[in-house]
Parts: sequence; structure tokens; C-alpha cells
Amino acid sequence: MTSLDKKTRGRTSHGRLRALDVYLVHQERELLVRSEGDWARAAFVDVGFGEHPWTTLDSAEAFRALHPGLPVVGVELEAPRVETAQAHADALTSFRQGGFDLPLVPGERVRLIRAMNLLRGYRPEDVPGIHQTLGAPLLEGGLLVEGSTDTPGAVLVAHLLRRVPEGLSREALLFHTDFSRGFAPVLFRDWLPRDFRRRVKPGEPIHTFFADWTAAWQEAREAGHGEPPEAFRHSVLRLASRVEGLVTDVWLLDNGYLLWKPPGGVFR
Ligand SMILES: C[S@@+](CC[C@H](N)C(=O)[O-])C[C@H]1O[C@@H](n2cnc3c(N)ncnc32)[C@H](O)[C@@H]1O
Repeated sequence: MTSLDKKTRGRTSHGRLRALDVYLVHQERELLVRSEGDWARAAFVDVGFGEHPWTTLDSAEAFRALHPGLPVVGVELEAPRVETAQAHADALTSFRQGGFDLPLVPGERVRLIRAMNLLRGYRPEDVPGIHQTLGAPLLEGGLLVEGSTDTPGAVLVAHLLRRVPEGLSREALLFHTDFSRGFAPVLFRDWLPRDFRRRVKPGEPIHTFFADWTAAWQEAREAGHGEPPEAFRHSVLRLASRVEGLVTDVWLLDNGYLLWKPPGGVFR
């Protein structure tokens, strides 16, 4: 355990991170299938899998549909949870005790690291350091995903951080909803990643973003787009004329994803 690691509740469920799996399979296919040189055996590492490794196993199945030989490593701070998970270990899937300083074996390479729903109890000011520690083993071009969802996984917000030659780039923020809770931009506020959760306040860039999105959503509704998926799509299209870096691919908008890549990276 490093000085940053903290004990946390382990609640999780099958399918909770399915929307993230779907996003990664669609948008990060290259990352998941790369197999030249160091990438040949590069793993997906799921940090903080919880009381049961359901989300790790869900993702292993989703990603192996593209890359059948993908090594998957589940990491947990709590030894009894690691012990329980061993029932699901196999030649390509391992479960190890450890924290942000990932328990990799010598020579092991990493393409993707996911840390979902584990920073709620951590201090926001520690998050940048946690990102750096977690992202350190990534191959260049590799991705760290860190964020939160509600309990069923109907609402999700995550940081996407990319390993680039200069270090770890704060590439994007990803928002997703499956519309089962309706739609309004405020839906995402309580599920923001730890470093932004309490910062939706005047003067903060994340507050400006939500104010702009809410105005765009109200305009979309006034223009007759009242159903949640339509209100979402039209709000994002309107928002894109005010905010730089919104990715408005049809697939993203049709499936409830807002991907924001602010020029110069996501603000701190
Ligand atoms: C709420 S569960 C989330 C499970 C799963 N990732 C999900 O999204 O459903 C959080 C888990 O993260 C673990 N955890 C917290 N801090 C950790 C750390 N620094 N390293 C590894 N695991 C950690 C906790 O022990 C807990 O089991």
C-alpha cells in the first residue's frame, strides 16, 4: 500500500461498466488490437474491481471478441476480494493484490488501465498524483480511464488520459447515459470524476461547461426535441457551436456519448 491507497467499499455489479466497454470497443479498437512489438502481450488492467470481479470479466469478454489473446489483470487493495476472484483466474486472466502502484510482473506491458468508482473516498487534490502513478506503466499511446458511474451504470463520466512522449495527456472527458433516468445535463453532476465533483460552482470551467450545456438543452427542448435521446443529441450539436473540442460523430450521439477533447487538454 502506498500513502495514497485507502480502504473503500467494494460494491459492484455485472454490466455496470458495459457502456464503457462498448465505447472502448468502438472508439479504441486500434488500442485493443495492437500486437506489434511490445504490444503483443500488453494487458488490460482493471484497478479496484470490488467484492467480485464482475466488471473485469465483462470487459475481458468484450475486449477478447476483438483480441482473443488479450491478457487481463484485475487489481484490488483488499486481499479477501482478490482471494474470491481467484476462482475466475485462467491462463490469460489474473487477479492480484495491490494499489495505484500496480503489481505488475517484470517485463509486463500495459495498453489500457481502468479505475472506475474507486476515488470517491480520496481527496480531490490527490487525484493528479494518483493519475500519474496509475498511468506510469502504460505503453506510449496507451489509455488510462478514471471516473464514476451510478449504481446500475446508467450514468457515467470519466477522464481519458493518454500516454504521450511528454507524459500523461488529459485527453478527454467522456459522458454517457442510457436515458433510463431521462436526460438533462445536471444528471451528470453527481457522477463527475472525483477532482470535478464539488467544482460545479461559478468561476470554475466545469461550471461554465454545464451552464452552456444546460442552455443548449433548453434551446433544444424549446425547438421541439423533448424526448431524452433527441434532447441529448440536439443539445450536444448546439453546444458544439459554443464549446471547442466536442466530438459529434453520429455513433457517439446516437448512443448517448458526449466526448469532449478541449484544445490543450482537460483543465485541472
Ligand atoms: C466501489 S468498488 C468499484 C468496483 C468496480 N470497479 C465498479 O466500478 O463497479 C471500489 C473498489 O476499489 C478498491 N480500491 C480502492 N482503492 C484502491 C486502490 N488504491 N488500489 C486498488 N483498489 C482500490 C476498493 O477496495 C473497492 O473494492
